[in-house]
Amino acid sequence: MDSKTRFARRFVRPTGALELMQDLALAGSGVHMLGGGNPARIPAVEAVYARRLAEIAADPSQYGRFAASYAGPAGDGRFRAAVAATLADRYGWPLSERNVALTGGSQAAFFTLFNLLAGESVDARNRRVLLPLSPEYVGHTDVGLSEGMLVSRPADIERLDGRLFKYRPRLAGLESVPDVAAICVSRPTNPSGNVLTLDELGALDALARSRGVPLIVDAAYGLPFPGIQFVADGLLWNDNVILCLSLSKLGLPATRTGIVVAAEPVIEAPPPVVELPRERPSRPPATLAPASRALVAQAAAQRKKGDLPGASVSLDRALRIEPNNPLLWIETGRLRMDQRNFAQAENMARKALAMSVGDDATQSAAWDLVGQSLKARGRNVEAEEAFAKAREVAPR
Ligand SMILES: Cc1ncc(COP(=O)(O)O)c(C=O)c1O
Repeated sequence: MDSKTRFARRFVRPTGALELMQDLALAGSGVHMLGGGNPARIPAVEAVYARRLAEIAADPSQYGRFAASYAGPAGDGRFRAAVAATLADRYGWPLSERNVALTGGSQAAFFTLFNLLAGESVDARNRRVLLPLSPEYVGHTDVGLSEGMLVSRPADIERLDGRLFKYRPRLAGLESVPDVAAICVSRPTNPSGNVLTLDELGALDALARSRGVPLIVDAAYGLPFPGIQFVADGLLWNDNVILCLSLSKLGLPATRTGIVVAAEPVIEAPPPVVELPRERPSRPPATLAPASRALVAQAAAQRKKGDLPGASVSLDRALRIEPNNPLLWIETGRLRMDQRNFAQAENMARKALAMSVGDDATQSAAWDLVGQSLKARGRNVEAEEAFAKAREVAPR
């Protein structure tokens, strides 16, 4: 009988982070740690740290705070307040110390966040963290306590002059990846050094909001510190973003200080840290007004007889009566499928999706149509995801 705990089975094996750290330990002197660890030892910076340490050691009250007392559950209040004030000052974000929590390294923050948000939940569904741009940080691979917690999408590669290229997130289709509990990106991305533009970050933020899940941004190497990124086009924070910073790449990996900047409820929930994804809003199933119902019935009869142009006219008339009725867009999308105009069918299904947030029956029908339209174009993997989404939201 195998008496190993699930935890042991999952973690007593070569994990991504373990292999990375073993490689780093084997690297001799003269290797510049750009892909992991402390990217550079800079004498002038270390001199500042050494001076502050000497001052702290010489002052009993500072020493007491530094080494001889426990901080509160979210970390030292003065440090949290200083981080909040610095970010508020630099970026104008409305932050106070209540938006900041400290962890033993940002890796520990990811462990907590990923497992609080994703994995097997009490309703027995497996929820996942979506990494929308891979390659992504290897350390994320094994933080999940349950298998299959991550789902990722390959980046598009844009070729630039001078034998350069840029990874771009492929946004199309991300809204249909099923069972997503959070979206996570590192910026810059480790190991590639790719920096998502502010626009790309904004698009991922909008996607996260539309799905009712948080966007986790791992800025261990990026802005505001140590700022090892060559496109300094700002940083994004709002109450749906969980920004994870670290002192490690600032030259202090041995202090293992991670900094989480998030909305107050995320920070304040009893330790560890996070509120679960919001319940989806709910609204009653869409119905057709009598006049458009008659036109839909007429269109169905026309389709049956093969009179597709006639059916199109009937549905257009119904849409003039109720342009915001998602059921009419789904009907018209189905007609487009008959007309073999699969791309338009998908557009109509997506329009219906946008119009029916919270109406599970209509959302399910619209996802099914998205799936059919993708399948008809041979995009089978995406189609399966859309069908899974249709099943996931279908009223039970
Ligand atoms: C992209 C990225 N995020 C997070 C971390 C974790 O850093 P720490 O746990 O030391 O804060 C690392 C460490 O190499 C990293 O490369």
